[in-house]
Amino acid sequence: MPVTGLTIEPLGQRVGAEITGLDRERVESDPSVAGACMDALEQFGVLVLRGMGLDDSAQVRFCRRLGRPEARSTRAVPEIAHISLDPDRSPIAGYLQGTFDWHIDGTCDDVPAKATVLTAHAVAEQGGETEFAGTYAAYDALGPEEQERLARLRVVHTFEASQRRYVPDPTPEQMADWRTRKPMEHPLVWRHRSGRRSLVLGATADHVVGLEPEASRTLLDDLLERATSVDQVYRHTWSVGDTVIWDNCGVLHRALPYRADSAREMHRTTLLGDEPIQ
Ligand code: SIN
Repeated sequence: MPVTGLTIEPLGQRVGAEITGLDRERVESDPSVAGACMDALEQFGVLVLRGMGLDDSAQVRFCRRLGRPEARSTRAVPEIAHISLDPDRSPIAGYLQGTFDWHIDGTCDDVPAKATVLTAHAVAEQGGETEFAGTYAAYDALGPEEQERLARLRVVHTFEASQRRYVPDPTPEQMADWRTRKPMEHPLVWRHRSGRRSLVLGATADHVVGLEPEASRTLLDDLLERATSVDQVYRHTWSVGDTVIWDNCGVLHRALPYRADSAREMHRTTLLGDEPIQ
C-alpha cells in the first residue's frame, strides 16, 4: 500500500531500490513504514536508505518493527554485530574475509536469515562497497529444461568451504572451529512459500550431491557467474549514515575487498528467518 511522502525508485536493472521520504524520526514514529519496507524488499530485494544516521538503539527499534532481530553479539547491544577487519573492533573479524565472496547468510543454519540491515559507521578509503545480485532473477533467467534439471539437484553447504578460500592451509584448531558448524544439504532450487523460486548458491556451496568433484565445481561456478554477471548486480558505494536492507532469501551479497587496517565499520542486524530452504 502506498505510504504518504515515501518514494521507491529502482536502482539496478534486476535488484535494488532507493527509498526516499524517510528520516530517523519517521522510521520510529510512523507504523506504516515497516510494512512498506517489507513489501518493497520482497519486490526489489535490496533497499537503500541514504543518510539515515541510525545509531544502534534506533537501528534495533526499527528492526523490531521489521521482524525478529537476532541477539547473539557479545557487544553492548546484542542485536548489533560489528563488521570490521580489526579484531579489536569486531570479535568476528577473523571470519570476515569470507564476506568478500558472494554468499547468502545462514546457509549453514537450519533456517537462513530473513533479511539483513547494515548501517555504515565508517567507510573504506578504497574498496568496501557491497554488491548484491538477485537469486530469484538468476532462476527466472534459466530455460525451462535447465530449471527442471537443476530442481532435481541437492548441494552440501559448509562453513569450511567459505573459509578455505582465504585460509587454504588451516591449523587443526581452525579446522575444528569451522567444523563446529555442521554441513547442511539444501536443494539447489528453493521453492519458496510465496510460490517464487530461487537458486541457492555462494561461497558455502561445497559440492553437488552425486556429481564428480570437477563437474560439481564447474556447475556451481557457472551458475554463480551467470547469477552475478555485471548487469545483474547492484553495487552500493557507502557514505557514513547509509542503511541498506536486503532480502537474504532472494539475494546474494559480497563486500568488495578493503584493507585490513581500514577504518571501515558497519553495524549489522540480522532478522531471523522462518522459512527453511526446501
Ligand atoms: C556481510 O556479508 O554481512 C557484510 C557485508 C559488508 O561488509 O559489506
